Amino acid sequence: MSLNKITLLAAALGTGLCATALAQDAMTAMDPNEIMAARENQMKLFGGTMRTARNAEGAAMVEIANVYVDGFENLADLFPEGTNTGSSKALSLIWEDWDGFLAVIEKGQTASAEVLAAAESGDQAAFLSAMQGLGPVCQECHDTYREPM
Ligand code: HEC
Repeated sequence: MSLNKITLLAAALGTGLCATALAQDAMTAMDPNEIMAARENQMKLFGGTMRTARNAEGAAMVEIANVYVDGFENLADLFPEGTNTGSSKALSLIWEDWDGFLAVIEKGQTASAEVLAAAESGDQAAFLSAMQGLGPVCQECHDTYREPM
């Protein structure tokens, strides 16, 4: 490998590593209480949107679907290790079984993509039926990774 290629490679690796480190820094720099508040807001949005879905039509169906697509896309970021202090109901099992936790989030990503596809087709019955796929994902995660209510 020429010196130039090595320099380029090092530069490319360097940027990649930096971007990851920066993202992690931004999260760890955030106060755990802020993270927990952001998580609570996201979860409340998930719950509240479920109720509005029943009567949604047309563009409103797409908006609702995107709440889940966007929410599940970034859900793991709202769970930095150890942010289950104070009144948090999150179990430490989340970080002991991080891969299992991510697998449930992935199910949510799949289910919300199906909701979006149905919403975009404009078919309300298909949308409502796809919405039914979300509930079991919420429940699986809560049953496994959240303190019983
Ligand atoms: C991958 C795991 C996971 C998934 C999926 C998930 N949740 Fe949660 N949810 C949690 C955890 C953990 C908590 C407790 C967070 C805390 O107290 O720090 C929680 C809390 C909540 C709360 C209580 C928020 C509060 O503090 O007032 C609601 C409401 C909620 N979730 C709704 C939903 C809905 C609706 C869905 C599905 C669309 C969903 N969740 C999907 C893990 C998940």
